[in-house]
Amino acid sequence: MVDKQYLLDSKQMASFVARGFLRFDELIPNEVNEAVMAEIDAGSIKAAPAGTPLSQCYPPPSAIGAMLRRPEVQGIIQSLVGPDPLFDHHAVHVRQPNQDAAQGLHGDSIIDTRMHFDIQLMYFPHDVPLEMGGTLVVPGSHFRRINEMDIARYQNFVGQIPMVCKAGSLLALHHGIWHCGRQNKTDRVRYMYKIRLNPRVRQLRLWNTDDLPQDYAKHKPIFTRETNAVEDIQTILSRQEPWFEDAGGRLEIVNRVKLWRFLTGDDNFDVHYWLTRLENMPNNRLLAA
Ligand SMILES: [Fe+2]
Repeated sequence: MVDKQYLLDSKQMASFVARGFLRFDELIPNEVNEAVMAEIDAGSIKAAPAGTPLSQCYPPPSAIGAMLRRPEVQGIIQSLVGPDPLFDHHAVHVRQPNQDAAQGLHGDSIIDTRMHFDIQLMYFPHDVPLEMGGTLVVPGSHFRRINEMDIARYQNFVGQIPMVCKAGSLLALHHGIWHCGRQNKTDRVRYMYKIRLNPRVRQLRLWNTDDLPQDYAKHKPIFTRETNAVEDIQTILSRQEPWFEDAGGRLEIVNRVKLWRFLTGDDNFDVHYWLTRLENMPNNRLLAA
């Protein structure tokens, strides 16, 4: 288990629930980035069989293993999918220079409606300027479950974020998020290492919950709006994405509330009245006057 100081906090987790990704710029030092680039050039990054515990993958000496074993990376992994998740697959994605087309927008799975989620860590071992493309994500799209390339006809999406970053940056993605590799218009090859991880534990308060009301830790339901912490979570979970419909992304917010309840164990949590309204199904018969 990684030290608590490296775990995500509740606001970061709420942002992941709302947007389907977290971004960590320049998290990995350059000596590790350069060592990983050397492994990529040598073709020496070897996959373990699917279903292998991550702790058994990439034994030393391995630069990619050293990157994954850094406590700040372990803290991200543990907060989202728990300690020692299973290796699903990895890939070193290569975008050749001067491409004339981008990858189609897609999800990395078939329609997958589990509440439990896998994560995909994307690691950028060298600088990615805008003209190099970068991985593009559509924030908040992770609840719109799709079948792989069904959405590839869409070229651009209002609110999309291209991963323009410095070397050593990481993205942690929910498995449902819409994304693609953008066109590389430079004369240099672009690399990105991706690993998918499956949780082995119930995804229940795996992050540092010290910033939540104590009742969360006791698994007692609390009602909202009593503390600043909960107010902050509500604010994050109700934040709009530019592609939301005019009504304010009601469906998205309800789905966020469901996932937040799942992750905290607080079945009474709501943002305003969105989910509670749907749960109002009285069984009482009208009493005779
Ligand atoms: Fe993908």
